[in-house]
Amino acid sequence: MSSITLKSDREIEIMRQAGRITAAARSLAREMVTPGITTAQIDREVRRFIEKSGATPTFLGYGGYPASVCLSVNEEVIHGIPGHRVLRDGDIVSVDVGATYKGFVGDCAGTYVAGTASEEAKRLIEVTRQSFFEGIKMARVGNRVGDISHAVQEYVEKNGFGVVREYVGHGVGSVMHEAPEVPNFGSAGRGPRLLKGMTIAVEPMVTQGTWEVRVLRDGWTVVTKDGKLAAHYENTIAITDGEPEILTYAEDLYA
Ligand code: MF3
Ligand code: CO
Repeated sequence: MSSITLKSDREIEIMRQAGRITAAARSLAREMVTPGITTAQIDREVRRFIEKSGATPTFLGYGGYPASVCLSVNEEVIHGIPGHRVLRDGDIVSVDVGATYKGFVGDCAGTYVAGTASEEAKRLIEVTRQSFFEGIKMARVGNRVGDISHAVQEYVEKNGFGVVREYVGHGVGSVMHEAPEVPNFGSAGRGPRLLKGMTIAVEPMVTQGTWEVRVLRDGWTVVTKDGKLAAHYENTIAITDGEPEILTYAEDLYA
């Protein structure tokens, strides 16, 4: 990981544009998460959309990753590779997408239901999404990264779910992964100080059972060790003088 970079207002404006494309790509994928579709079909349309927008799919080829989107179904937490799998009624699908525009990266994710999910699955998804918002309440100048981490963990665990430890959020800018790491667990008051112009991806990965995960033999797909459900929610945000700004914003941001 590189060192922490602070972005100028001009750079933040480009990141806003990259973020808008990325968030719209997430919305497109979300609309497509329906029973009967294959994950490869979603990947193809999202790639087409990103390229039509004048951006490039950040994930494609990243560390050898073979697709433009990660689609992680049910017990898959992150990095699920799109393919022939057909979505079934009640599946929950974590969509993670990145787009690079004019040299800057947007990175965002969300978990959506194909058809109708169980109440417990819906609660998992909602707690995951809300834990992001609890976390970014702390994303203000003068606070530290650990304040975000602690707020996410506390909210998730209070609701009876687990937070993944092995994968974390991160700084984001001209490359997808910059310093600092942004864990979804930890102690308030610890870690790097938040400064105006920092841009970070806050991305809680939340499990229904154990927070322990393992990687499948495809070398990418991360699944829960106990086979229970997982959910993911992520936005790229900028630290400002006041409230954090969500850069991966589209009209349906709160989706
Ligand atoms: N949003 C993920 C991350 O922050 C996606 C990376 S997938 C990869 O790490 F394929 F690009 F590696
Ligand atoms: Co990320």
